[in-house]
Amino acid sequence: MHVLLVSSEVVPFAKTGGLADVAGALPRALAGLGIEVTVALPRYRQIDGARFGLQKIHDGIRIPVGERQETLTVSEAQMPGGRALFLGHEGFFGRDGLYQEKGQDYPDNAERFTAFARGVTEMVRALGLTPDVLHCNDWQTGLIPPYLRTLYAGDPVLGKAASLFTIHNMGYQGLFPAEQFSATGLPRELFQWRAMEFYGKVNFLKGGLVYADCLSTVSRRYSQEIQTPEFGAGLEGVLKERTADLYGILNGVDTEEWSPATDKHLAARYSRDDLGGKAACKADLQRTMGLPVRPDVPVLGVISRLADQKGIDLVAASAEALLAEGTQLVLLGTGDRTLEAAFTALQKAQPTRAAVRIGFDVALSHKIEAGSDVFLMPSRYEPCGLNQMYSLLYGTIPVVRATGGLDDTIVPFDQKSGEGNGFKFAEATAEALLAEVRDALACYRNRPLWHRLIQNAMAADVSWTRSAREYVQVYRRAIAKRRGERGEAAGGRAVASN
Ligand code: ADP
Ligand code: GLC
Repeated sequence: MHVLLVSSEVVPFAKTGGLADVAGALPRALAGLGIEVTVALPRYRQIDGARFGLQKIHDGIRIPVGERQETLTVSEAQMPGGRALFLGHEGFFGRDGLYQEKGQDYPDNAERFTAFARGVTEMVRALGLTPDVLHCNDWQTGLIPPYLRTLYAGDPVLGKAASLFTIHNMGYQGLFPAEQFSATGLPRELFQWRAMEFYGKVNFLKGGLVYADCLSTVSRRYSQEIQTPEFGAGLEGVLKERTADLYGILNGVDTEEWSPATDKHLAARYSRDDLGGKAACKADLQRTMGLPVRPDVPVLGVISRLADQKGIDLVAASAEALLAEGTQLVLLGTGDRTLEAAFTALQKAQPTRAAVRIGFDVALSHKIEAGSDVFLMPSRYEPCGLNQMYSLLYGTIPVVRATGGLDDTIVPFDQKSGEGNGFKFAEATAEALLAEVRDALACYRNRPLWHRLIQNAMAADVSWTRSAREYVQVYRRAIAKRRGERGEAAGGRAVASN
């Protein structure tokens, strides 16, 4: 089976969030199961061609974007698990950001990701690729499923290829003014409410949701939540109609990148059997962040996009009370300007207790995972969430809100039975977060109990292999559907049920 995985960001080439981690790690896990994987992404300016050994293999992919003809290049590089193909266009992708600069989305994102999607389909033809499945991810690839079923319906390869569309976040839909629909080149009749129209606008995500053979999202819980008005962001009706084709497959963790036993970013390495190095990582983090080096003081860690989704305002609202519990708070994040200012002010007011780094810093994110005692993730919604899983592996105990993937991965610690791996609260309020952190701190002060909790956390099975097996089953389902067969006939038993 040959899978063409299409994603607007992929580790190690370009990343703004968890989508990149997934697109970077899933190929290797799939390759381990004997699947051939090709990955396609835009060639952004920040991708260092020399460092990754990019080779240009085509320089004349012609595509229409509205009335204009544009020309894309294709470069290739090897990545773990397969080869990556980069679609280049100086005007669209030769910029500093992926989707935005200085907090402002690029005004021509509809055209940019039209060019990407159309570039992918035309590249398949130009290079003579023969994918069985196009695995599309998030709104940036939302045009591909409708392209396959309309403009390319008669193409010998693309017309037969199945598609899986994975939703990483319903909060970002690629919603554009109606006038921009014509840039896509799709038949006009797709601009209607049963297809890609959404309250008078064009919705790229909806294209994927309506036209892909199968749909998935990144946790079982979120696959259920998005079929309700609270989490469906207006598309719950569409998802409900497609419930039979919608799967929830939890993300895994790339343990080559995230493992305290081998992590090169850390001052010391440690494992479940030998936790000694964790104390050195804590001291290193405190030093790096300019905090007093105090082994006895519990460190609360946060690494997050500062966006409404993440509930970081709840941390801001409870920060003084959290620090009054005798903790240190370390926060790394960027995004919402008001939150950035609030945390910068907190650091100024409490320099020996709060340390804040505004920005995106991969090395520091590893140090925080290893050096913190408790990790806070009070998300309002969370399709999967990766940092709570990294925290488990690093023996840093997560305190999370019970939503989406956080709810699926964190089991509340039960002091009596000694079972569980973290702390979980329901209400999206500062009070609920604070109460849960207090419970965690009480446990922290009981060393044997805390040790038990760390042991439980670090034993988590968050490997990609399990998830990759589930993806293969869904790929089989999608292929079978495209061939007009029943899923069972192709040997695919339904995995993560919906
Ligand atoms: P999302 O994709 O919604 O942002 P995830 O938890 O799935 O949330 O993934 C976020 C990823 O981005 C994690 O790998 C996390 O460590 C990383 N990350 C988020 N903010 C930063 C930052 N400021 N610096 C470095 N890494 C970050
Ligand atoms: C999104 C979600 C996050 C998820 C990630 C990767 O950005 O917000 O919860 O882990 O995608 O699937």
